[in-house]
Amino acid sequence: MVSEKDHNVSRRQFLTYTLTGVGGFMAAGMILPMARFAIDPVLQAGAAGDMTAVADVSDLTEQPQRFDFSYEQKDAWYTSEVTETAWIYQEGDEIVALSPTCTHLGCTVNWDANEDYPDQFFCPCHGGRFEKDGKNIEGTPPTEPLHKYEVEVQDGTVYLGKAEPQI
Ligand code: FES
Repeated sequence: MVSEKDHNVSRRQFLTYTLTGVGGFMAAGMILPMARFAIDPVLQAGAAGDMTAVADVSDLTEQPQRFDFSYEQKDAWYTSEVTETAWIYQEGDEIVALSPTCTHLGCTVNWDANEDYPDQFFCPCHGGRFEKDGKNIEGTPPTEPLHKYEVEVQDGTVYLGKAEPQI
């Protein structure tokens, strides 16, 4: 037969287990998201190397053409769709993909857009100009070349990675 004293002890134990369980559950609820936040960038490190299919090689010419492309970007808990643009051309065996972001203050450059400066990238904001290979033209505001995308070709498709500085 169970005495009154045994009941008291088991109630106390029940409360101890319950409070420990609830406390542990709450602590896990706070600590796990923090741990994930700290570790997530490490787990995502490989994603930076991902390539996106952007164009068919058969569509390329020796003149830079504008291609827009989108991909999913994961930041911590958020997944968002990012749209980027590349100016792509082919010269011999080489495929070149340049970022349209002006290296002066970040406006968007266009190819062959100013009749005074044919066959150059022109930035309308402050008159920045770049050669076809992205090199900045001396005497204009930009002080470094347009960034260049990492390019890979597979089965006739051009894949782009990250745009990196050319210097
Ligand atoms: S932002 Fe392009 S020249 Fe200034």
